[in-house]
Amino acid sequence: MSDTHTRDREKERQEQDKRIAEQLARIKHKFLIMSGKGGVGKSTVAVNLAAALADQGYSVGLMDVDLHGPSTVKMLGLEGEPVKMSGQHLLPIPYGERMKVVSMAALLEDRDMAVIWRGPLKIGAIKQFISDVLWGELDYLFIDSPPGTGDEPLTVAQVMQGARGIIVTTPQEVSLLDIRKSITFCRQVNMPVVGILENMSGLICPHCGGKIDLFSSGGGERTAREMGVPFLGKIPIRPEIVISTDQGQPYVLLDDKGKEDFSGIIDKLIHGGTKE
Ligand SMILES: Nc1ncnc2c1ncn2[C@@H]1O[C@H](COP(=O)(O)OP(=O)(O)OP(=O)(O)O)[C@@H](O)[C@H]1O
Ligand SMILES: [Mg+2]
Ligand SMILES: [Zn+2]
Repeated sequence: MSDTHTRDREKERQEQDKRIAEQLARIKHKFLIMSGKGGVGKSTVAVNLAAALADQGYSVGLMDVDLHGPSTVKMLGLEGEPVKMSGQHLLPIPYGERMKVVSMAALLEDRDMAVIWRGPLKIGAIKQFISDVLWGELDYLFIDSPPGTGDEPLTVAQVMQGARGIIVTTPQEVSLLDIRKSITFCRQVNMPVVGILENMSGLICPHCGGKIDLFSSGGGERTAREMGVPFLGKIPIRPEIVISTDQGQPYVLLDDKGKEDFSGIIDKLIHGGTKE
């Protein structure tokens, strides 16, 4: 490669870093939703927290960096909505008046392609998601990531100054072992942990409202204490969550019980957990 070529590349990189810094300066709070294990409810939590805050009048962004499935757009009923371009910028898909959504998987025509995306490509794509999407002024940005501590959370942690982790777990022991790994990861990359959220914490019987501890309950809280990180709260297993997810509508907007389930956690994000 010639010297000029290398210099051009370096200049391009610097310009992108500048754009990233400019974009990030306009976003007050950035939360990376993570988990050690798959299927614990990260996307559900990301979508509902975002929708609840937008419902309360905040401007909110939701960025889905999981290449393997467009969970968040599906959960919001936005599947098939095009991401439009404006000049060099990508315009996020609007959801209601105050929420904007961008999903990596939704941008990919061929979902099978995602499987062969290697690290450096993924890192480049995630950087572009921050530098080239017109987020505008946001109070909150939620980033939904695939499980584990791979390229996606790593890139977000490295590129997004000021991002903080929200770790989702279920109450079982296997899942709790995994959150220790997530916390260790956050510490290694110097990303503050906002706290642990225990999802699928007991089943609320839809008939009588009684609680059944299907997978036990309270493990997330115990682990949070042991690891010295805040506990954000519990969300029970609710059949309504599955239904609302399939219908493409966030549970918090459909049902007062949904609002209640998430309200304690939302309060902590607004008041407690958001001090820089
Ligand atoms: N509290 C809950 N009660 C009932 N069902 C739930 C709850 N939370 C999540 N689910 C359901 O569990 C499934 C997995 O949830 P979700 O896709 O949010 O997990 P995830 O952690 O994002 O998964 P992945 O690791 O694959 O990205 C979904 O069908 C969702 O509707
Ligand atoms: Mg997901
Ligand atoms: Zn009952």
